[in-house]
Amino acid sequence: MTLIGVGSPSFMTSFCLIFFHQATSAAVENESNSRFLGKLQVMSDSKSKVLSIIGQGYVGLPLAMAAVEAGWEVLGIDKSAEKVAEINSGHSPIEDVSDKQLLNAISSKNYFATTDFSRANRASVVTFCVPTPLDADRKPDLGPLRDAALSVAPFLEDGTLVISESTSYPGTLRKLIIPLIEEVKKDKSFSFFYASAPERVNPGDLIWSQRNTPRLVGGIGKESQERALAFYSSICESVIEVESPEVAEAAKLLENTFRLVNIALINEFAQLCGAEGIDVNSVVKAASSKPFGFMPFKPGIGVGGHCIPVDPLYLTWWADQMGQSADIVKLADSINRSMPAYIASRAMGLVGSNVKKPKVLIFGVSYKADIADVRDTPVLELINQLVKEGAEVIWHDPLVREWQGGKSVDLPWVCDVAVLATNHSAMNLTSLIESKIPILDCTNTLPKQTNIHTI
Ligand SMILES: NC(=O)c1ccc[n+]([C@@H]2O[C@H](COP(=O)([O-])OP(=O)(O)OC[C@H]3O[C@@H](n4cnc5c(N)ncnc54)[C@H](O)[C@@H]3O)[C@@H](O)[C@H]2O)c1
Repeated sequence: MTLIGVGSPSFMTSFCLIFFHQATSAAVENESNSRFLGKLQVMSDSKSKVLSIIGQGYVGLPLAMAAVEAGWEVLGIDKSAEKVAEINSGHSPIEDVSDKQLLNAISSKNYFATTDFSRANRASVVTFCVPTPLDADRKPDLGPLRDAALSVAPFLEDGTLVISESTSYPGTLRKLIIPLIEEVKKDKSFSFFYASAPERVNPGDLIWSQRNTPRLVGGIGKESQERALAFYSSICESVIEVESPEVAEAAKLLENTFRLVNIALINEFAQLCGAEGIDVNSVVKAASSKPFGFMPFKPGIGVGGHCIPVDPLYLTWWADQMGQSADIVKLADSINRSMPAYIASRAMGLVGSNVKKPKVLIFGVSYKADIADVRDTPVLELINQLVKEGAEVIWHDPLVREWQGGKSVDLPWVCDVAVLATNHSAMNLTSLIESKIPILDCTNTLPKQTNIHTI
């Protein structure tokens, strides 16, 4: 276990708190583990290692599996009866948890999913892993987080550690979650412990998992902080202490906004290079030869998923509330959202002028390679733009068989132009590549040949 302090007075001073995994003797590691784990022994022994995770999706289910492997008994609470039934039948709804891993956890009797919030009364730790989407006006929708807090609050026992892992703007734990819970429990002389520890999972990542991705932890006060550090130290290899929940919440927004802005930069740069007939991918490759001060980002059809298109708008909203303006973030959002229209016009430009209603075949509709997640996928807007330009659009995705009322088409590939939006490894493109059909490769993963064009 590595424990890193990034609190005041300065990061460098606190950096002295680091315990390096390799350099630390087993004895010291055990001692520090038991010192922190001892903080969990405030409740009866049967409760001390019972964890309740609210939300069993891309974040909550992998956390459940990691916690079971670390010796916790886990109750996965989800409001979706369908998802709970699927999970309890041993079928994992997400790629990052295999059916085998799930079945092992279920058969160990240390994990089950339920819709029953009252089961949380056995837990010494409760974590929120529910969605934090945008509403119809593209403003933060904290409805699921609010509902989760209100649903579980009546069942929380004295001394429970309550942690929010959901991504949100700074102040969400202190100003929203805590008042909701404290109001429900106002007639009891209970005390709870609170922390924010935003999840950083990258779905489909074979290297970075819940276990080895450093975990930021910011508690409300010393006691909460120590308990939260103890909890995550029992699951994660590296736990980073920050001075408050707000620092942890803001850090998560910064991380994802960093990606949004850099993706927007390269998407804008791609359009500039395209206008001059320069291959932007060659430019990125050339710039990447600089060993310092440059980090490559790839152009694409836009951003998707539950994080990059969403979290930065929590940041812009937060800025607006303070009478500030996060201008660069707003601009980056609008540049990324302009990409589907740009790609649509590039694709239509590859069709012969004699074709009256071009048939466009899109490959890959989910937002990310090897992931079936279609939330906020920019392919939806790409289809809208193509239809607006007079095209008939069909799509193929081996991971998404049905979507938006339509079905994935299979071989033979009959179309006037193909757009490779997302390249899944399960996608067999050989016959497409060998055909004379013009392909707009938005992923820069196909071989260079005359019928293949890149962004
Ligand atoms: N998906 C990612 O890559 C990722 C990465 C890091 C952080 N996050 C953040 O983690 C949080 C969860 O995201 P996710 O991708 O796991 O979402 P998800 O949609 O995959 O899973 C959320 C689950 O919560 C359930 N749920 C919704 N409201 C509920 C309620 N009131 N009570 C109980 N269950 C409820 C849903 O049924 C769903 O199963 C979000 O704040 C997100 O921004 C996501």
